[in-house]
Amino acid sequence: PTTRALSPQVPFTPTTPLPAAGPAAARFPEGFTWGAATAAYQVEGAAAIGGRGPSIWDTFCRVPGAVHGGHDGAVACDQYHRYREDVALLRDLGVDSYRFSTSWARVMPDGRTVNRAGLDYYSRLVDELLASGIAPWLTLYHWDLPQALEDSGGWPARDTAYRFAEYAAVMHDALGDRVRTWTTLNEPWCSAFLGYTAGVHAPGRQSPADGVAAVHHLLLGHGLALGELRRRDAEASLGITLNFTVADPFDPSDPADVNAARLEDGFFNRMFLDPIFCGAYPADIVDDVAHLGLADHVQDGDLDLISAPIDVLGVNYYNGAAVSARPEQGVPQGQNRPDGVRSVSEGPHREVSPPQPVGPVHPRSRGLPTTDMGWEVQPEGLTRLLQRLQADYAGPRGVAMYVTENGAAYPDVVEPDGSVDDPDRIAYLDAHLRAVHAAIEDGADVRGYFVWSLLDNFEWALGYSKRFGIVRVDYETQRRTVKASGRWYAQVAAANAVDA
Ligand code: NOJ
Repeated sequence: PTTRALSPQVPFTPTTPLPAAGPAAARFPEGFTWGAATAAYQVEGAAAIGGRGPSIWDTFCRVPGAVHGGHDGAVACDQYHRYREDVALLRDLGVDSYRFSTSWARVMPDGRTVNRAGLDYYSRLVDELLASGIAPWLTLYHWDLPQALEDSGGWPARDTAYRFAEYAAVMHDALGDRVRTWTTLNEPWCSAFLGYTAGVHAPGRQSPADGVAAVHHLLLGHGLALGELRRRDAEASLGITLNFTVADPFDPSDPADVNAARLEDGFFNRMFLDPIFCGAYPADIVDDVAHLGLADHVQDGDLDLISAPIDVLGVNYYNGAAVSARPEQGVPQGQNRPDGVRSVSEGPHREVSPPQPVGPVHPRSRGLPTTDMGWEVQPEGLTRLLQRLQADYAGPRGVAMYVTENGAAYPDVVEPDGSVDDPDRIAYLDAHLRAVHAAIEDGADVRGYFVWSLLDNFEWALGYSKRFGIVRVDYETQRRTVKASGRWYAQVAAANAVDA
């Protein structure tokens, strides 16, 4: 069967008190991992160097109006040439682990043929990390599909999943002796729905049916890659990183708002959690998109591959959202969506919409403060999310959770002496770390936290206009400056605690 109603369809309600806003120190368990994260296209640059082939992001960035300011990742933070400096920064910050992604198009320029020079780059990076006492945490796919594979159908095509498994095998053959943690995909929701349905991310298609097909083939790619990795390496830690929202009905007494929250939770969270953890797509969402043909793509055995055991679940959390069946008066639809798309200030203002028809889902402001992305600052949502994942998904299967991304964009100000004082970012990180701590106290098996991001970098459709780094990057000179938040994070990592 392709569906089984295994997961609760009602948004989760907290069972324990939320983290007290107070001065108490939050001490983390012994051995907790303190990490920092980036992704290949966002930081590497060197797009035409070392035999790298074009990816869908190189192509998308050339579409007029697609990316803020016409920016692209051709140079980015130039980490390809400056990785030694960046690893030294990680070491100075006292970080235990670096989460980075490998560029498929660097390693297999046409998606199929191995480029030795590309593998050598990642080999040098991994060696540098290990020499500095930093554990590499490798993500195989952070959105940069080789253009050649998009040309032969992209993620809506089943064949791409098999190519992905080959790439996973190539990477493991090159680095498996040194990399002990492997995650397959980063945020497949974004790859599928922002890339193939909303068209606001590469490759920019606007097709609900392609989005749904992409979901299945991304997950199949995950399952096939997992098999390749497991066969080669029974001891490695293997998993996937998903992005989550915490969807609350704007008016919990209004059944239409409750339904909007069900849809938001269904598309964002359960569409990926259920196949991975329960071996079935959520029955209610499958019904909602029945006309888009999801079931036609699911072949015998696919869900067994997709639900093969994992060791780690990467949790990316930035914010939740109150959602309603009705738009806020005077606010254009698409405002406050947790993907930041509304913030694109240049080019056509395009909205994100899930596959139709799923009923109206409008984000509604709760009057919470927002970051530079327009996202509500809602740390208690992270506690609730981790409690739910522990109770319903990861916990029962003994899967360890890591927060693989959390952080905030703010319009940083550079002082005349070059320093960056970013109290808003510190407050955001402090509150979210306390939220993680509260979940751990409640029994959630969370083993580590990776701040997004080590560096200011290429924020996809928003180009370089949003800064998430705990280290500032001056894109003119490539000079790195540790922000106040970076120094604060180093103290937290050293103390293994967020102090009063
Ligand atoms: C999630 C993505 O994985 C990352 O690439 C992005 O920069 C951050 N969120 C911030 O939007």
